[in-house]
Amino acid sequence: MQRLQRALDARGLGHVTAGPVDNTPTPDEPGHPEYHRRQRTQIAVNRWKNATPYRYQQAVATHPQVIGWADRATHDPRTAGILFLTGTFGTGKTHEAYGALRRIAEAGPDRFELLALTAPDMYALMRPNGSERGPEAEVKRLMRIPLLLIDDLGTEKISEFTEEATYRILNERYNECRPLIITSNLPVANPNGTDLHDQLGARITSRLAQTTTVVTLEGRDRRMGGAA
Ligand SMILES: Nc1ncnc2c1ncn2[C@@H]1O[C@H](COP(=O)(O)OP(=O)(O)OP(=O)(O)O)[C@@H](O)[C@H]1O
Ligand SMILES: [Mg+2]
Repeated sequence: MQRLQRALDARGLGHVTAGPVDNTPTPDEPGHPEYHRRQRTQIAVNRWKNATPYRYQQAVATHPQVIGWADRATHDPRTAGILFLTGTFGTGKTHEAYGALRRIAEAGPDRFELLALTAPDMYALMRPNGSERGPEAEVKRLMRIPLLLIDDLGTEKISEFTEEATYRILNERYNECRPLIITSNLPVANPNGTDLHDQLGARITSRLAQTTTVVTLEGRDRRMGGAA
């Protein structure tokens, strides 16, 4: 302190007295919650980008129910349940699904680990020699990953294998209340035509019925007319 005073005197800068020092970090400094939230956001958004196909890199959730689901999945994942996006071809289901995952990432959650894949790719992984990890390890990964997107469920050929694999994953995620997004061209229930119930069986759709936010996207096929 004395040395500082002498140095200031030498420069004619007057007298200084010791006072309280404001050590409170600003939002740009470590220690401030906002600083750490931004760091988490950066990591999460990078993970989201790596998991997202090029076409959906600009995806933003716009549907109010999708936004609501994503916010629940951010703040209290166990209450989010399943987000089921249905509608005909090209209505923006996959876009909304990746948009929902982006919204979660941008909030900077404590944990952001995701797997996003189409149902046919998911079944391929679970077949013998379908991956290096092996089928059982893949099933466990799909059960336990904090965020899972299964895109285009219901388009694959139905078999005992696909039904059993889907049941195991959905049942475990249902029991542990882990968030899940499903997109499908099929409605959950349709008395006048094919629905998910026909495709996947009652034990799966019964679980879907309880915890699912169903969002039906309507409108034209966005792919028609040369749009992106
Ligand atoms: N809100 C949006 N804003 C801009 N582009 C969009 C939007 N929603 C969808 N698109 C674009 O429209 C096209 C169709 O959307 P998307 O692939 O999400 O449809 P889909 O419902 O998943 O179709 P399918 O049932 O065939 O899988 C894509 O190229 C997508 O990038
Ligand atoms: Mg799609």
